[in-house]
Amino acid sequence: MTFEYAPAPESKSIVKIQKEYGHFINGKFVKGKRHFATINPATEEVLSHVANGDKLDIDKAVQAAQVAYTKVWSKLSGAERGKYLYRIARILQERAREFAVLETMDNGKPIRETRDIDIPLVAAHFFYHAGWADKLDYVGVGTAPKAYGVVGQIIPWNFPLLMLAWKVAPALAAGNTVVLKPAESTPLTALLFAEVCQQAELPEGVVNIVTGVGETGAEIVNHPGIAKIAFTGSTEVGKLIAKAIADTKKVATLELGGKGANIVFEDAAIDQAVEGIVNGIFFNQGHVCCAGSRLLVQENVADEVIKKLQSRMEKIRLGDPLDKNTDIGAINSKAQLEKIKELAASGSAEGGEAWSPKCELPKNGFWFAPTIFTGVTQAHRIAREEIFGPVLSVLTFRTPAEAIEKANNTPFGLSAGIWSEKGSKVLWAAEQLRAGVIWANTFNKFDPASPFGGYKESGWGREGGRHGLKGYLKSKEQVM
Ligand code: NAI
Ligand code: MG
Repeated sequence: MTFEYAPAPESKSIVKIQKEYGHFINGKFVKGKRHFATINPATEEVLSHVANGDKLDIDKAVQAAQVAYTKVWSKLSGAERGKYLYRIARILQERAREFAVLETMDNGKPIRETRDIDIPLVAAHFFYHAGWADKLDYVGVGTAPKAYGVVGQIIPWNFPLLMLAWKVAPALAAGNTVVLKPAESTPLTALLFAEVCQQAELPEGVVNIVTGVGETGAEIVNHPGIAKIAFTGSTEVGKLIAKAIADTKKVATLELGGKGANIVFEDAAIDQAVEGIVNGIFFNQGHVCCAGSRLLVQENVADEVIKKLQSRMEKIRLGDPLDKNTDIGAINSKAQLEKIKELAASGSAEGGEAWSPKCELPKNGFWFAPTIFTGVTQAHRIAREEIFGPVLSVLTFRTPAEAIEKANNTPFGLSAGIWSEKGSKVLWAAEQLRAGVIWANTFNKFDPASPFGGYKESGWGREGGRHGLKGYLKSKEQVM
């Protein structure tokens, strides 16, 4: 028996969105020249207009960050920098509900996730890195490591504030100053974060936020005053950035795409595995670089797994992201919806069989029903390309060796999952898998202390943990 859920919408009254925003440069909001709209993808309602930053804006932001670096931030002790990070973390916790509601409105993801996952993790990242600020001798780049100076940070729309935290917290802990550009469809929580910087009395110019489009990002990449680039987004743009900095002294960390394999062995606890499959691909509408978007299931349990998965999917609730009972919210943009539709159509055209539970899609906004494809082969586009939506490709295997071969048969190498009750098999498989993050009997678990990142076309470097901090520090030898 299933029960109907009464609507339980979170109130929007806690957020105050301005009609128009400028950039946050040198501790102040400054007027923009041209503006573009950011919408709520669940309703298509225009939320606000944000400034489209150009070369001059980036120039001003970099200058402010340079002055802040030389005059203030590089002169503070680690313990003093840590105090600011702790302060920011506490304010983020105090204002968590406001951030969760705003993130849900601007991005389309369910409030259940922004409230319980995104925002708590954001605060956790600041707390974690606050603790490192006075212990940089132990990061692993020798004693008295040095910051790079001004770092340019470009982030995507799938975890807007969380990606800001992944980038800003370690950069500041290590002693760098920042020019950050949020994604064009989700700039609002970054602008609210700018208010938090003011509230925390962070010295002006330490964090600068310039909103804008791809070209604005390119201005950051190409600015001579930037010492290091940290980027999360598509592999395509990641490659452009790598080319752009190839003949400069700039360094980069790149967190790019993925096509994670979630491997279910015959001896797995099937009910738990089904929960893990659902979490692996339907969390955040599948807009997750480390999503378990390829299910590799051992042939002799495939029917059982798919049947149970379908019955579980029938209970997934899609709809108003602000409703506390919603599991799947809106697709972030029209363009992303088109991309998902196009890839799903290719899946059917190439011989895959699509299945979705009965699910009514709201009239306005951008929606895609949770979908699984069976009968998928490795040659199909939906087995090779990142769909970045709630679409799972199911492949089968007979032997563990075949599972590994298929899992590794991808240009990406970001994440993988292993489901088995046998510890030795889990360890064996983890050793063979060419992926930066491997979960065993769980999926999509994140912690600021554990490094995250990929191999091959999934990017360069790690974020989080001691390994992530290394990317923001130079050893004595590098300085000389
Ligand atoms: P994107 O890579 O174009 O955008 C990410 C960020 O990079 C945004 O802030 C954007 O303004 C900026 N950007 C765009 N062009 C740039 C350039 N030439 N130089 C510097 N910065 C630039 O990603 P997009 O177009 O939003 O999504 C396209 C596809 O990328 C998605 O369908 C998905 O498959 C993948 N993607 C992967 C993400 C991940 O976390 N791995 C995140 C976002 C998208
Ligand atoms: Mg938006």
